[in-house]
Amino acid sequence: MSIKTELQNTIADMVDDKRGILAADESSPTIKKRFDGINVESSEENRRIYRSLLLDTEDLGLYISGVIMFEETLTQKDNNGVLLPELAWSKKIVPGVKVDKGKGPLSGAPGDLITRGLDGLGERLETYKKQGARFAKWREVYPVSTHNPTPLGRSANAEMLARYAAVCQEKGIVPIVEPEVLMDGDHEIQRCADVTTQVLHAVFHALHCHHVSLEHMILKPNMVLPGKACRTAGAEEVAVATIKVLRRTVPAAVPSINFLSGGQGPEEATINLNAINQLGQQLKAPWQLSISYGRALQQPALHAWQGKAENISAGQQALLKRARLNSLAHQGKYEVSMEA
Ligand code: 13P
Repeated sequence: MSIKTELQNTIADMVDDKRGILAADESSPTIKKRFDGINVESSEENRRIYRSLLLDTEDLGLYISGVIMFEETLTQKDNNGVLLPELAWSKKIVPGVKVDKGKGPLSGAPGDLITRGLDGLGERLETYKKQGARFAKWREVYPVSTHNPTPLGRSANAEMLARYAAVCQEKGIVPIVEPEVLMDGDHEIQRCADVTTQVLHAVFHALHCHHVSLEHMILKPNMVLPGKACRTAGAEEVAVATIKVLRRTVPAAVPSINFLSGGQGPEEATINLNAINQLGQQLKAPWQLSISYGRALQQPALHAWQGKAENISAGQQALLKRARLNSLAHQGKYEVSMEA
């Protein structure tokens, strides 16, 4: 099979008008934080049990088309000895993997961050592909302040995302490109809109310069929101601001935009997605507007599970509920009364 056909097939298996992506790729420090919240030790075995719970959820494939795994999960098995990537694909959920190696300060640009992990990426992708991964994810993070992100921060981060995406496509792996403008801070929604516009503009310029095929990638951006310490915006305001920025920056060739939840509550993230899709339909947005939520899909499942074998089914029901309601929001058909 040619590389192009491989990429096309993966996009076809991941992008439709009802399903979204489950981000279950928490790095070791992040999953420890989540497990600390329910007093569960972050051992390899507990991570295996928890991620098996997620992927073994009956009917999850009706609402979820892809799962982003942490490297470790690719080689873990469920209680029946089935590798977790195979378990996912048995439900028509495409397995993928987070490939960045975490963030640190960007020298020469105080306050900006940069992600590591490009060295040896091609070889790592070949290994992940043999383990079943068909797509990858790389996240760059942009803190917002009066002077961040700086022009250097924007161009350096865009360059990283583009170089990562180009290596992925060369290997037949669909890249999820994730530039995350953080919600932290007391800035107004307009500041988030301005920063997100500049960031996406730089990212798509770099993708173009690195000959990345826009038809064979997925964009994972933040929604446009006011800073957490400023206020909470209504869904309509979020939708108007988000769609305006996306229409100005994201080419129609990109098949799907899958938002991160970024610290929004589970219901808030669904309500906002629904409003974005209703407006997107009115304006004939050219891309799917779906999810790649981590916390907003998993939080209720984690809390229902509590690390106890007898709660596995409750955890799965909680996950399935969020997945189903987000699928409705993806279609602009969600209503808050459906939460009951
Ligand atoms: P959240 O939806 O919890 O922000 O996580 C998505 C993700 O993958 C961040 O990189």
